[in-house]
Amino acid sequence: MFCNRAIGVFDSGIGGVSVLRELQRLMPNEDYIYLADEEHAPYGEKSAEEVLQYSTVNVKRLIDLGCKAIVIACNTATAVSADHLRETFSVPIFGIEPAVKPAVKNGGNILVLTTERTAAEERFKRLVTRYRSEEKARIYVAPAQKLVTFVERGECDSDEAAAYLADVFKEYSEVRFTSCVLGCTHFSFAKNAVTNALGYVPEFYDGSCGTAEHTRRFLEKNGLASSSENKGEVIYLVKNNNNRHILNNK
Ligand code: DGL
Repeated sequence: MFCNRAIGVFDSGIGGVSVLRELQRLMPNEDYIYLADEEHAPYGEKSAEEVLQYSTVNVKRLIDLGCKAIVIACNTATAVSADHLRETFSVPIFGIEPAVKPAVKNGGNILVLTTERTAAEERFKRLVTRYRSEEKARIYVAPAQKLVTFVERGECDSDEAAAYLADVFKEYSEVRFTSCVLGCTHFSFAKNAVTNALGYVPEFYDGSCGTAEHTRRFLEKNGLASSSENKGEVIYLVKNNNNRHILNNK
């Protein structure tokens, strides 16, 4: 059994493309519809109620477009709304979480970069609490909200972004981080900026691999994977000031 309908993927903007890439790497024959909710970005500065509302609208739109499953390619939207979305909609919904678990396994000092909203969410706090008791690892959470905007503008290697990150890391000048968990999908595009601001290369972790692998396993197990002849096309939708337009279909 197979199903050639598209997988819907959404984020507040460009960040979720890092998850889309991983999904495409593991499932090249699947079709995808990528929805960037730029009209409401950045999510990390919004209230939980607002993020839930935007996420619900995004999922509804992707289902209306015929998607067979949804990937929330946003740590913030996952932390706020994954449970609620799963109760509301009957399609399978997959989320992404900061990759604290694999980083902790490696031990040492772990820097977890998130948005403001994610850092404030109970779900994230529970995740950190669960792994904080590990003896060989120390976890440091640093919200770096403005980095989202630098990534969106393609300016994460600018002097302004460097000054911002230097400020975020200031209080940790005594700590040498073994690992850095990129707990926001936008941050996968800012590894250079983070490395430069720290002055050394930490081991980077993000949740995109785990999310893509989990999605693949579920679709295969449930007869929802596409056939091997399917072309694997992507449609990009950008919601911007109420104008929805398709950027391209490659
Ligand atoms: N890319 C999102 C995340 O993973 C949200 C960034 C934002 O819009 O603040 O958290």
